[in-house]
Amino acid sequence: MLLTALMASALTLATQPPATLSLIPKPVSVTQASGAFVLDEHVVIGTDTASRPAATLLSGWLKATTGRATKIASKGSITMKVNPSLAKLGAEGYQLEVSPKGVSLSAPKYAGIVNGLQTFRQLWPTGKVPKFTLPALKIEDQPAYAWRGMMLDVSRYFMDKAYVLHFLDIMAAHKLNVLHLHLIDDQGWRVEIKKYPKLTEIGGFRGEGAAREGGFYTQADIKEMVAYAAARNITIVPEIELPAHTLSAVCAYPWLACTGKQHTMPTTHFISDDLYCAGKATTWTFLSDVLGELCALFPSPYIHIGGDEAKYTKWKACPDCQKKKTELGLADEKALQGWMTREVEAILAKKGRRILGWDEILRCGVSPTAGIMPWADPKAAGDAARSGNPVMMALTDHCYFDFPESKLRGELQGAGWRPPVTLQAAYDWNPVPTGLTPEQQKNVIGVQGCLWTDMFLHKPELKTNPGPALYGDYFTLPRAAALAEVAWTSQSQRSFPDFTERMKRQYVRYSDYGWNFRLPLPELVRNGNQVSAVCPIEGGTVRYTTDGTDPTASSPELKGTVTVTRFEDFKAITLAPDGKRTSLIFETVAAANQFKQYGTKLGEWKSGKVGDRKPLPVEFDATGLISSDGTYQVTFVYTGGRERLDIDKVEVFRNAETTALATDTHHGFTGGAKKDNAYTLKINGYQTGARFTVRAHIYGDEGSDSNGVVLIKKISD
Ligand code: ACM
Ligand code: ZN
Repeated sequence: MLLTALMASALTLATQPPATLSLIPKPVSVTQASGAFVLDEHVVIGTDTASRPAATLLSGWLKATTGRATKIASKGSITMKVNPSLAKLGAEGYQLEVSPKGVSLSAPKYAGIVNGLQTFRQLWPTGKVPKFTLPALKIEDQPAYAWRGMMLDVSRYFMDKAYVLHFLDIMAAHKLNVLHLHLIDDQGWRVEIKKYPKLTEIGGFRGEGAAREGGFYTQADIKEMVAYAAARNITIVPEIELPAHTLSAVCAYPWLACTGKQHTMPTTHFISDDLYCAGKATTWTFLSDVLGELCALFPSPYIHIGGDEAKYTKWKACPDCQKKKTELGLADEKALQGWMTREVEAILAKKGRRILGWDEILRCGVSPTAGIMPWADPKAAGDAARSGNPVMMALTDHCYFDFPESKLRGELQGAGWRPPVTLQAAYDWNPVPTGLTPEQQKNVIGVQGCLWTDMFLHKPELKTNPGPALYGDYFTLPRAAALAEVAWTSQSQRSFPDFTERMKRQYVRYSDYGWNFRLPLPELVRNGNQVSAVCPIEGGTVRYTTDGTDPTASSPELKGTVTVTRFEDFKAITLAPDGKRTSLIFETVAAANQFKQYGTKLGEWKSGKVGDRKPLPVEFDATGLISSDGTYQVTFVYTGGRERLDIDKVEVFRNAETTALATDTHHGFTGGAKKDNAYTLKINGYQTGARFTVRAHIYGDEGSDSNGVVLIKKISD
């Protein structure tokens, strides 16, 4: 009697399991049973030797959630065991059982134990709780794809070891299992190579004086990262770009390129045509040495050799490259790149490794053993799968997370040469190209998200706290969750509405873990004059305004429905349960399009931030808005304040250049009346990936109390 009462109170004291499980990625099979397990101070983790690193991870998570250290022993109420007789679950599958008596996690291999552990953690309540109950259930699960990758470009923007370890935690939480490290590019060489110390001494840093920046991983750092990843079932695949994207190496050792010319490390983004010389024997000694040290550091079965975007201008003019091409009887430089790729493949094959490269290597002629990573050319995916090559899908429109999720006001600016990659775009696609036989379909071995950082090069805010997490986490989350589900859950079990429903708790998990995720906008439903909202995060609220001002955390909460008379003035945001993090602003198309005739919003000027009777330069980031050569019009539209705005001059700058690419000097103003308030700028010198800045010399005519909007529009090619 007494015992029963005690047990009942223990159950009610512990946080009850949520009604839905909200597991991401969605498992193959979940069978719920009756009863629950109470996870309290009596819990012991019982593990076999093989699962011990996973048990250590679990005890760390339990400490963060319950505030208590949990004992690890050979027997306990949470058991973890590698069991080869479960081979039917595949290399990474697992079985997780929760009953009132305990939790049992078993898998044919360690990889499955780690995957199951991530699912187990998602069964816990969010927040910090000393004890909680878990619903009785049985989960059997295994991934759809073997390659579930994320690429991190640490070359263009150096992310230190601490951030890489943090990124590995983000990946592990999503059961992603390949970290493709883009270690080398024109703007930085990031891995210590003992035989060639200048690669990092010179190639690891750029800029002068206070603007100097960079860094690299020592071989000891790499060993630590590889081990940290392995404990989380992640393989680190290094990428050594060749023959292009190698200016950092050429700056260190000019003899690597055709001309031997000494270059200085670039401080802006561009793609150099100083390729490794294909015709000089010294190139091959170098590559063989570097690949040797690399293979000793990274145990991955694949080594990524890049192969993208090679411009052959220097090869065409190089006597050594031309001699090699003739000697080999090759038709052109593309074939020379193909030869180089196969030579590198042979060097790596002797070390028991395979190569993997961007889709261009397929067009240069590769063997069917080379992995192909389609990015720009979707057709390459089908062609590669038909030729029997392993294919890892990384298509820009679904997988490039350096593109922002939207073009909304206030969005962090990323790459702009393709449309934004929305969460739905990252989710709603089938990695298997159409028109393949079932056998050919098996060659598509996985998917990968890519976080390029060439746009980060120019972000001054990254030089201060919170550093790389500001952009790295924000661009990765939540799209990594979409990627995880594309990679893990079979196509027939996936649906975007079901995914967004489960994401409501995932955002709270991100909050608990302290990750800088992008909180989505509220979903608004309009019926005549009535507006209601769906909050995209569990425990969050939707805040709104109807007077045209931007909503904040303290704006009224939108509960049920509200009546809105002027939709142009209706705005709403999501507010996270922490009461701090907010989404970008939802505004009606009418509000967003108020100034549409003048083009896209470039920015705003604000009271106090413009010159007081004297011109003051104010800058606007036009990257992504200036997207090709041509004539652009920049228009100033006054919206409020005591003063009209006067404009003396508007200039456009590329990257950090000090000479303007275009200038329009004339006097104009905008206020109660307006005159000549549009500026015409002819851009000749557009470069992919370059940053563009509009600098306006503006002032209030009698003070600086002026507000308005600046818009940009392309008016001719
Ligand atoms: C690439 O984005 N150049 C692979
Ligand atoms: Zn050459």
